[in-house]
Formats: sequence, C-alpha cells, structure tokens
Amino acid sequence: LPKLFIFDLDGVITDTAEFHYLAWKKLGEKLGVSIDRNFNEQLKGISRMESLERILALDPSLSLSEEEKEILATDKNEYYKQLIETVNEEQTLPGVEVLLQTIKENNIKIALGSASKNASMVLEKLGLTNYFDYIVDAAKVKKGKPDPETFTTAADALSIAYPDCVGIEDAAAGVHAINDANMFSVGVGSMDHLAKANFVVHDTSKLDFEEIVQHFSNWKK
Ligand code: G6P
Ligand code: MG
Repeated sequence: LPKLFIFDLDGVITDTAEFHYLAWKKLGEKLGVSIDRNFNEQLKGISRMESLERILALDPSLSLSEEEKEILATDKNEYYKQLIETVNEEQTLPGVEVLLQTIKENNIKIALGSASKNASMVLEKLGLTNYFDYIVDAAKVKKGKPDPETFTTAADALSIAYPDCVGIEDAAAGVHAINDANMFSVGVGSMDHLAKANFVVHDTSKLDFEEIVQHFSNWKK
C-alpha cells in the first residue's frame, strides 16, 4: 500500500478552481484581456503572482510596475474571497470524503499540497481539516508547481519515501510536480490536459481507493 496520499485542494477536494477562474476572468475584463477556459488550464496550480504574470504576458502593451501588480493581485484575491464566502461542508466534491475516510481506515497518512494562500481557510470551511496529517500551502514552499517542492515537502515532513506517495491533481502543472517528485500521479479531469498522469479519472466520483492502489502497485513493480 502507499504510505501517504497528497491531495491538491482547488479542483480536487472542492470546486474552488472555478472560483479562481471567475476571479481571474473578472480581473482580465478590467485589464481588457479575455481569459477563456483553455487558457485557464495554464493557470491551474500556479501561484497568484505567477498567474498574474502569465495574464499580463497576453498583452505586451501592458507593462506595469511591481506596485501595480501587487494591487491587481490583491484585487483578484478580493474577488476570490467573495466567491468562497459560500463554501460550506456540502461543497466537498463527490467521492472525496469517502476516499479520505478509506485512506484513514487503512492507516495511511494524508497531506494537502496546495499553492494557495487560502488553503487552510477553505479546508476549515469544508470541515475537513481533521483528516490531514500535514498541510503544505503557498507559505511553505519556495518553488511552486510544476516544481516538485510542494509534494516533497509533505513527504519529508512525515518522513515518507517519495515512491510510497500518491499525489492527486487536477492541474497539468501539479501532475508534472508529482511525477518529478518520483511519486505516483493521479489526474482528475480531461486526458487533454492530464495525459502525463500515471492514472487519470474523469471526475472525483471515480476516485476509488482500491483502483488507485491497484494502479499504484503495478507502477511500483
Ligand atoms: C492554486 C490554484 C491556483 C491559484 C493558486 C494560488 O494552485 O489552483 O489557481 O492561483 O492556488 O492561490 P491563492 O489563493 O494563493 O491566490
Ligand atoms: Mg488544483
């Protein structure tokens, strides 16, 4: 069996990936750049400032000072915080809490691997904090996804070897990070973006403990 499951938050545990998207879209409208769902795939799992840089790069005429960038990033976060006000215990995505319970029943550790500064707050709102043995958020890492640091930090904190870990992600950058950490990667979403994952499910309702463990064992051989 794996010894540690590391969950991404936004888009895996709850659908806050949609709220990040809507908040960036609103900021984009203010800047006169349109952000569609396809481009948004490149923002998933990416830190707030790096996401802003990628958006600003869409329009080379937008050259802003660091101070102006800070203000825009804060604006986006204000939009985002308004959107997550409605997050409550009913908004955990289908299948996730059963998976968390099953992992616990098997005496396997659980960590969070999120790039978000809002991660602990969202986990609290969902009432899921108690499942987690360790939380990695934006404050704990120097290099964000696709760098493996988010995932290796969780494994190191719990003294677990990387190939004994399973990482679950909805972002291409996150899958890349898990693979580079030499952990088993589970992608949640479309093959179009997650083809590099060791195992892909269409949505969280398809996250089955036995099935993940089976694929993990084959990968380890
Ligand atoms: C996660 C999300 C990204 C978001 C990042 C930073 O990785 O997938 O969309 O940009 O966290 O979130 P924050 O709440 O710190 O702005
Ligand atoms: Mg995500």
